[in-house]
Amino acid sequence: MPLRLRSLLASLPFLLLPAPPMHAAQPLPPTITEESQVPPYELPQPLLSSANTPILSPSQWETLRRPELLRLFETHVYGKTPLGRPDALRFVVREEIPNARGNQATRLRVALLFDGTETGPQMELLVYLPNHVPGPVPVILGLNFDGNYTTTAEPDLPVPSHWAMGLFANKLEKHTPSPAGRGIHQHLWPYAYALEHGFGVATAAYGEIEPDADGFAPQGPRGLAPLPESGAWGRIGAWAWGLSRAMDYLETHPRVDAQRVVLTGFSRLGKAALWAGAQDPRFAMVASFGSGAGGAALSKRLFGETVQHLVARNAGWFTPSFTQYAANEAQLPVDQHELLALIAPRPLLVTSGSTDLWSDPRGEFLSALAASPVYQLLGHSGLPPTMPPASSLLESRIGYFLRPGAHDVTLEDWQALLRFAKKHLP
Ligand code: GCU
Repeated sequence: MPLRLRSLLASLPFLLLPAPPMHAAQPLPPTITEESQVPPYELPQPLLSSANTPILSPSQWETLRRPELLRLFETHVYGKTPLGRPDALRFVVREEIPNARGNQATRLRVALLFDGTETGPQMELLVYLPNHVPGPVPVILGLNFDGNYTTTAEPDLPVPSHWAMGLFANKLEKHTPSPAGRGIHQHLWPYAYALEHGFGVATAAYGEIEPDADGFAPQGPRGLAPLPESGAWGRIGAWAWGLSRAMDYLETHPRVDAQRVVLTGFSRLGKAALWAGAQDPRFAMVASFGSGAGGAALSKRLFGETVQHLVARNAGWFTPSFTQYAANEAQLPVDQHELLALIAPRPLLVTSGSTDLWSDPRGEFLSALAASPVYQLLGHSGLPPTMPPASSLLESRIGYFLRPGAHDVTLEDWQALLRFAKKHLP
């Protein structure tokens, strides 16, 4: 074919495209990744009530400011969780293998049937408990992106049929688990390492609780409760609710020390872990990995992903009123340091990847620093004011770890988590 004809044909699809509608969304502004370009911002003070009452005692924090902040996050960020543990919730142990992983662990697959039925909303919890520790053990609990079978190469875990995200998984058909996914996220879940150190691990797929896309709310936990009058909950709220149900199960297991359940999560699942930890005091410790905007990172500091980016792509993670703060962050009556403060006085570790600028490592550190006065009021250590170099763990009760590298979870994050947990949850 002559070249000119070929290039004319190649351009045809573009000629046929309709003009963009006049109301098309404005393009997002360029992402700020230079410290010198961050506009000035002011953070709300965690120890000052909405009515300007200074919070000077632990009891004022517990009775006045903490409930107030929870309400603010419900109203403006994540929505209200209108549902607790359903009366009908049922646990069905689908499998218990006492000598899994070369006898390193007992492995359980437990179905959590949210409405008590096999056909209703549910999630399967994969649990490993170390065999060499006789007594009740601490357990690290977190959601995974693509299915329990992606977190380990063990060949006998079934390939599930729930919605999956397709994280880093170019070879997988998006949203559809397949045998090719077995073990693809093993590096995010170093089970052997945790087990050797006497920790159990439990995980479930977030997309089984509720798929991460619009339109699925009625089929998941959000379908089980009437919508709250104000501040309908978003998907982060639904996933956080699922973490609390996992806790309901862990509390029933005699080999789990329910006083030492550590909640963790990466990225959007770190956001869910922080919100679950803020609402449910049964979690003894929280560790977020690269949770970024809408997680540990400050919203009013415009660096990397902003509220505008968040709601442009993932408005459904949040309560609808959160969208009004896109490009309007200064008006938000709360900021994410106050989410971290809601976890006080429980130990909290925030980790970031040093080159993960989209998640704003410095904004995560500054957030933990700005939450520190609450830890101090409650009798614990806060962060020192200087951001640490990569690889050094700040082990104050609200701690921080900058892992060298990108948006990911590596053994180094888990090493920091375990060291931190051993220090704070003896
Ligand atoms: C996107 C999103 C982030 C989120 C991340 C993830 O990058 O913008 O907010 O944390 O996905 O969950 O992997």
